[in-house]
Amino acid sequence: MNTVLITGGCGFIGSNFINYLLKYHDDFRIINLDALTYAGNKNNLAHFEHESRYHFIHGDICDEQTVNSIFSTYNIDQVIHFAAETHVDRSIMDPLQFLRTNVLGTGVLLEAARRSWGNKFSGHRFHHISTDEVFGSLSSKDPAFNEATPYSPNSPYSASKAASDHLVRAYFTTYGLPVTISNCSNNYGPFQFPEKLIPLMISNAIQGKPLPIYGDGKQIRDWLYVEDHCSAIDLILQYGKNGETYCIGGNNQPTNIEIVTQITSILDELLPKSPYRPHAQLIQHVTDRPGHDRRYDINISKIHNELGWSPHENLYSGLKKTVIWYLEHLTWMNEVNQNQGFSEFLKANYTSR
Ligand code: NAD
Ligand code: TYD
Repeated sequence: MNTVLITGGCGFIGSNFINYLLKYHDDFRIINLDALTYAGNKNNLAHFEHESRYHFIHGDICDEQTVNSIFSTYNIDQVIHFAAETHVDRSIMDPLQFLRTNVLGTGVLLEAARRSWGNKFSGHRFHHISTDEVFGSLSSKDPAFNEATPYSPNSPYSASKAASDHLVRAYFTTYGLPVTISNCSNNYGPFQFPEKLIPLMISNAIQGKPLPIYGDGKQIRDWLYVEDHCSAIDLILQYGKNGETYCIGGNNQPTNIEIVTQITSILDELLPKSPYRPHAQLIQHVTDRPGHDRRYDINISKIHNELGWSPHENLYSGLKKTVIWYLEHLTWMNEVNQNQGFSEFLKANYTSR
């Protein structure tokens, strides 16, 4: 039995990954360390409350005492580090919180792993979950990002993730800590907090609220269904090489306006009696995000050739599954939407746009 410390397991990708690991493997015991910030939701994993292979700890990755005591109490074999502040718009409003969690928090975890594992690295791994946003913005003719693309982050969020990636690499070069890093494109799917583009658009559209598109809406992202991200992490954990980085993406790059239009037509089809049909009439262009990256694209040849991974969902199938999930989980979404901190964020981010 491997004991794996998962940080940020109550967030969007972390909770999907815990579901995935417990579904497909029976040789893992999971310790989930999560501070339950606005983005963390314990209910995402309520069905594992009585599962003996799952243990939740409410705590902060920046708190050295908590992190060190987890390593000594549970004999941690592997770490999969998801915990982070993740929303670009929030990073523009409050950058220091991003530095604290994303940089200092990663440092505290690395140091605890180094001290706990000493020089005995066999069977150990520190896998760091990162983003393609560290590579910056592409022009329309630039080739896709790959593992050798120089870092050029533009937002406080991506800069803090870039700093954490460098720290992880440095622990490999300096101490030989067995690390891997994955840089993944935009995820979507069940349990994503409705401040990010796709769930925000679904949530607003079903309530007849405006669908705010930043600027001209022609910005491009690569989109990956979250379960495909989980299968990639699983492969890296099993077969990835220490010290290596892997780029992960969904092989599709729609503009923002294309993706929102696709969501509105899926809603038109699934909600034939909605008074807001056609939902596309709710689209509104609003002031652009400062420093908004224009285009991301990611080359997944390395993980495909070395580990045999490819995404399973295409954009349409993944979006349809996602819209259906949100329609079937309106209570989950209403609870999140009623959170007072969230309505304050929405007011601060959208009212004067
Ligand atoms: P999320 O915002 O949904 O969840 C973050 C989780 O981390 C929450 O459960 C939160 O409570 C927890 N957390 C925050 N600060 C913490 C702290 N100090 N101590 C302990 N826990 C803390 O994030 P997500 O979208 O699931 O992203 C997870 C990881 O994947 C992040 O590292 C992010 O940079 C990376 N990533 C995300 C995407 C995406 O599209 N969402 C794409 C590529 C990479
Ligand atoms: P987001 O989900 O915040 O992810 P990221 O900024 O990390 O890529 O945004 C995805 C894209 O959608 C990005 O180009 C910004 C844009 N966007 C809007 O146009 N309107 C919105 O209300 C939001 C939240 C995002």
